[in-house]
Amino acid sequence: MKKQITQVSIEDLEQNPTICPDIEDVFALLPSPLQAHCLRVGKSMPLIVKYAPYLVDTYRFKDMDELQCAAYSGGIHHDIGKAITSAQFSSSVFERVSHPILGRAYFDLNIANFDYDEAKNMILRDIISYHHERQDGKGIPYGKCGTEIPLASAICSIADMLDHLLLAPGRGRKRLDFDRALIYIQSQLGVMFSGTAVSVFSEAKDELLANYETYTREKAV
Ligand SMILES: [Fe+2]
Ligand SMILES: [Fe+2]
Repeated sequence: MKKQITQVSIEDLEQNPTICPDIEDVFALLPSPLQAHCLRVGKSMPLIVKYAPYLVDTYRFKDMDELQCAAYSGGIHHDIGKAITSAQFSSSVFERVSHPILGRAYFDLNIANFDYDEAKNMILRDIISYHHERQDGKGIPYGKCGTEIPLASAICSIADMLDHLLLAPGRGRKRLDFDRALIYIQSQLGVMFSGTAVSVFSEAKDELLANYETYTREKAV
């Protein structure tokens, strides 16, 4: 029987990469509200990348189907670093700053164990590493800006932001309705998000709205 993991530390993995746990087992360590957030972000991703067909060539996917499946997986696992610990990051560094670094470290140590093809590896790595970067360079943790930020990562940033605005606002903040969330995201063009990312997102707005309405309905039952 497979042993259930309770903690994943980068130091342990570095010492013994062969024990690298499966990404789904790591995901299961996240608190359930965070898992729900990640699943919703995952569901938004294929709806948005559909309007960025050139990403098929960027990552060398065979077709749009493959891109959408990999983007779905990337969305689900974007916050995987929140389940990873490291002595390198003490309590003085917020989880928010460190999780893209820890997620990327876990991913790089585990890459040989994944059953993914090259294109899926690349898009997952980009999404996990850069989903908190900002167009103006004020993002975390790398401070990348403009075209340094892969479009797939920027799309995940928007899907992440949309979910936070609609269903998972930070402490003290109110949930927005879809129209207000849309206006807010569009207002961040050139600040948090690139023009391309915002325009691809805007094209997907009707499908995203329909998708989020299903969550509201589920809650109402
Ligand atoms: Fe994140
Ligand atoms: Fe997130």
